[in-house]
This record gives sequence, C-alpha cells and structure tokens, in this order.
Amino acid sequence: MKAVIVAAGYGSRFLPASKTVPKEMFPVLDRPAIDFILEELRESGIDDILFITSRRKRALEDYVDREVELEQVFESEGAAAKQRTIAVPPGRFFFLRQKQMLGTGQAIMLAEPFTGDDPFVVVFPDDLHVGEPPLTRQLIDTYERTGCSVLAVEHDPPHLERYGVVALAGDGLHITGIVEKPPPGTEPSRDISIGRYLYTPEIYRALRHRWERHEGGEFNYTEGVEDLAREGRVVICRMIGRRLDIGTPAGYLRSILEYASRDPELAAEIESFRAEG
Ligand code: G1P
Repeated sequence: MKAVIVAAGYGSRFLPASKTVPKEMFPVLDRPAIDFILEELRESGIDDILFITSRRKRALEDYVDREVELEQVFESEGAAAKQRTIAVPPGRFFFLRQKQMLGTGQAIMLAEPFTGDDPFVVVFPDDLHVGEPPLTRQLIDTYERTGCSVLAVEHDPPHLERYGVVALAGDGLHITGIVEKPPPGTEPSRDISIGRYLYTPEIYRALRHRWERHEGGEFNYTEGVEDLAREGRVVICRMIGRRLDIGTPAGYLRSILEYASRDPELAAEIESFRAEG
C-alpha cells in the first residue's frame, strides 16, 4: 500500500517560526516531527510515500536525501553512532506541489496518478500516534476486514469543534456523514476524525463530483467522505493508543515533554525545572 502525506499547509499557528521552517520539520527534541510519521508508515509496511507540499517546504526533500559531506566526515572520524543519525529514512519518496491552497480535498485529488486503482493511506502530519500497533497498521487491518474506506477516530477529546466529527450508523462501525468543525452543541457524535485515513479509489470519484460543483473557498476532504458515507462505504477505526497534536503550540509542547520524559536524564531535568518553579 502507498501513502500520501498532506504537508502543504502554512502552519500559521507557528508564525514566524514556520515562515522559513516547515512545521513538519519542527524538532521534537532531536528528531523532526515528520520522522515519527515516517516511522509509523514504515512499521505499518508502507514503502512508497508521496508528499503533497508547497513553496517553502524544500527542507522535507532534503531530509529524505543523503548528506554526503557529513557522511564523509563521520566516516573519517569512525563515528558510527553519528553516521546512523543521518542515515536516509528507508522507503521511496515522491514530491508534488499543491500550487494554490485550495484545501485537503484538492490536495488528495492530486495523488490519483500516484495511487491509481489501489487503496491508499492519507496522513495529516499534525497528528502523531503513540502506541501499538501503529495507527496506520490499525487502519489497514480494518480495511482488510471491511473493504471500505476507513477513518481513524478518537472518542470524546476536548474541543470537538476543532475537528471533523463523524455521524455513526446504527452498527457503530459505518458512518453516515461527517461535519467539519461543528459549533458546540451540534456535534453528530463524540467521535472525531484524526489525521489518518485509508481511502479506496472511490474517493477520487466522490471528490471530483463535488469539486465540479464547488463554488470557491477551501475544498475539504470531508466533501468526498460525505458522499461515500451516504453510500455506506466508510467505516471508523477507533484508535488504540494516544494522539499527540503537534499542530498547536500546546500540543507541540506536550509532544516534546512526552518524548523527553522517556529519557531518564531529561525526565530528571523536567522534574528539576518544575521544582524550581
Ligand atoms: C483537519 C481536518 C479535520 C480533522 C483534523 C485532525 O483539521 O480538516 O477534519 O479532524 O485535521 O487533526 P485541521 O487540523 O486542519 O484544522
């Protein structure tokens, strides 16, 4: 299976830092955020990855390329551990630019020549997953059982109004619709879509159909999902594990604390910082 990482967004919540550094490259300690996504995909058995990017995102291309000069330096020093830190992530990487910020639905449509007639995974890289099995693997397993497009969902997080919220069918598995950022009190359920999707190629037909009637403004992926949901072709996969939202400053901070606390020395540092406070 192939994956498409939608990494075209401005990252406006992180300006001015994101003016020149793609938010996907923000460091979570010593690893850029995108590295966690690449690891999840790799551990889910995915090798071919298309990045949908935009201007100012060239650092992502450099990240999956070799750093020949440094390799030579580390080799001459016999610094094998350092050498490993700059190893190219395994996999095959492809890049395509979304030239205008027309929304996630339009970004996904660009991937059709890459994924063809096969099901594929879409990643919104603001969401990192912690736990086993990797979230993408959970989606693939659900697809293999159902043959439907699959939305990863989280049950009842705070601030439902910031997400796509699904409407569930009576069987608790299929969805009948999805509402993007519903005003508080109007949510169709307590299950939000998180940034992992497995689409059957039917999604392209649905998106194209809606795109032809689209009257301007952002074209969201939910438009295609709504149509497929009405046909009974979309199911949910309730995430096992936890989500870290690096798309907001608060979530980014939590991600750093989460990863730091796994290292005894850094965990002690956090403790002493708290004690001083
Ligand atoms: C996007 C999607 C939304 C989804 C969320 C998951 O929102 O539009 O449906 O629930 O990702 O993180 P955004 O983060 O771009 O506001």
